[in-house]
Amino acid sequence: MRTARAFTDRHFGDLGALYRALAKEDVAPSDEFSDRVVPGEGPLHAGVMLIGEQPGDQEDLSGHPFVGPAGRLLDECLREAGIVRDDAFVTNAVKRFKFVQRGKRRLHQRPKTDEIVHYRWWLAEEIRLVDPSTVVTLGAIALQAVTGKRMTLASLRGKPRAWEGRRLIATIHPSYLLRIPDADAKAAERERLVEDLRMAGQD
Ligand code: URA
Repeated sequence: MRTARAFTDRHFGDLGALYRALAKEDVAPSDEFSDRVVPGEGPLHAGVMLIGEQPGDQEDLSGHPFVGPAGRLLDECLREAGIVRDDAFVTNAVKRFKFVQRGKRRLHQRPKTDEIVHYRWWLAEEIRLVDPSTVVTLGAIALQAVTGKRMTLASLRGKPRAWEGRRLIATIHPSYLLRIPDADAKAAERERLVEDLRMAGQD
């Protein structure tokens, strides 16, 4: 497996070069990962960078981040928070879909710590190139990937903190909302996500 350490001295001049290298050189951490790398999308120097966990089934098929059910929910919440998605940079901590095949379905698998670390260098380079003033981590995996630490979301939620010259806002992953059965609890969590995104948009 390639490790983050192997790449620490290497820098790319632009995102195109970074993504070309990622697609060509990255060896997936295990056979459970898709062959396809899904790059981030959005304007260079976007003020807000949103970081998810990993591409899902639809993202893997289309090659674009956050286009499936979680992406549609994220789009709605961004709109409510007054953020134009095309003005933000949207990417993932882990650059490939990790899944198990069950019949015709490909079921999402949570990445392990060494697999998050495997992509951490690429993510750091992506953040350096986009150079956002605010980084929003969607879910615990993205938070771990950005900070390099396993932190509880609850301890950081709703409290922007300074991180390497940027503002870090940790919030939930939109797919979490899809798994809350109780309608009131779901509405409350959704409102908190919108609030966190609104805070991100207020630079
Ligand atoms: N979930 C993510 O974390 N990223 C995507 O791109 C889609 C779903």
